[in-house]
Amino acid sequence: FEITWDAAEAEKGGWPSFMAKEISEGPEAIRNTLRARIEDGVIALGENETLTDEQLKNLDRIIIVACGTASYSAMAGEYAIEEWARVPVEVELAHEFRYSNPVLTENTLVISISQSGETMDTKMAVQYAAEHGAHTLAICNTQGSTIPRESDAVLYIHAGPEVAVASTKAFLAQVVGQLLFGLHLARVRGTMTDDEIRTVTADLEALPEQLAFTLENADDVRELAHWMSDTRSVLFLGRNVGYPVALEGALKLKEISYIHAEGFAGGELKHGPIALIEPGQVVFVVVPSPRTQPTMHSKLISNIQEIRARGARVIAVAEEGDAAVLPYADIVLRVGTTHPMLSAVLSVVPLHLFALELASAKGLDVDQPRNLAKSVTVE
Ligand code: AGP
Repeated sequence: FEITWDAAEAEKGGWPSFMAKEISEGPEAIRNTLRARIEDGVIALGENETLTDEQLKNLDRIIIVACGTASYSAMAGEYAIEEWARVPVEVELAHEFRYSNPVLTENTLVISISQSGETMDTKMAVQYAAEHGAHTLAICNTQGSTIPRESDAVLYIHAGPEVAVASTKAFLAQVVGQLLFGLHLARVRGTMTDDEIRTVTADLEALPEQLAFTLENADDVRELAHWMSDTRSVLFLGRNVGYPVALEGALKLKEISYIHAEGFAGGELKHGPIALIEPGQVVFVVVPSPRTQPTMHSKLISNIQEIRARGARVIAVAEEGDAAVLPYADIVLRVGTTHPMLSAVLSVVPLHLFALELASAKGLDVDQPRNLAKSVTVE
């Protein structure tokens, strides 16, 4: 997918940047990725979009290989697939995987996540997996690109062309693609009933509208970003599926605004990172639902109390209706209520918008940040 930049100007459709346009396309990216893959509430995948039922039943290990943002979507997918299908799942950075001498058998599935389908590190990891007898499944946004061509099966996400170097709508669709696969795998392996799957697919189908609502009510994120335009360091905290969201929020901010940003698991604070907290330090906290993950919620609230006690400025991304977070956060950015394994798709969007608005407030080129390429086709 090559375009010249003058043609690209016409493609922006009046948006100030491709990144802004692509964030706005998030709801459609999810709709198109779900399209024709849910029938009567259960998952219907094409023959070449997955492995045979026999192969899926025999799996004893899944490794997801990816880089950058795709690897954070993989971490969100890991929680869901392991929770639903009861198969051990681990995420390996593609460039680490192929040099780690991994144990692979004919009952291992290596899933690659790649927007471009051309990332050299991920492509080499897939080749390594295939050479060592594992099954390979590509989750990819670019039809006919190299990684899908070299995989046993491919589950295309239909996020549409993503031009901005910073990946946004593709992250959402990458998570959704893994959720579809995880539910299909659970059904084939009999670890979820059709009714249990139907409760999840109902929440999946509600995501685009919930996302559209967040995008239509983003003024508070814009004001926050402009207020913080001279910030020099931002930390991100999350637990469970909110942890990869924290990592993704940090990556988005650093890659387009050049501000130091770091994501942590909330439970890690006391093992070192809390030493970074000094008065005025801005910390985004991705708060789990008090309804569906009460234990995670209360643990993260106590993390917030710990950092507030040391002067941190806390910006919470929290579910609509979560009142418990109010006394502890300077600002609360609201997202919709959904199944916990789907929540990364909603909670990441305020962080994408924040990075976009802060980099824009600094007058930076959000579409082509310095030193970066859209697809890293070298090792
Ligand atoms: C994300 O904003 C970055 N552009 C980068 O981390 C990217 O996700 C990574 O290079 C993987 O690219 P891919 O999805 O095309 O394989």
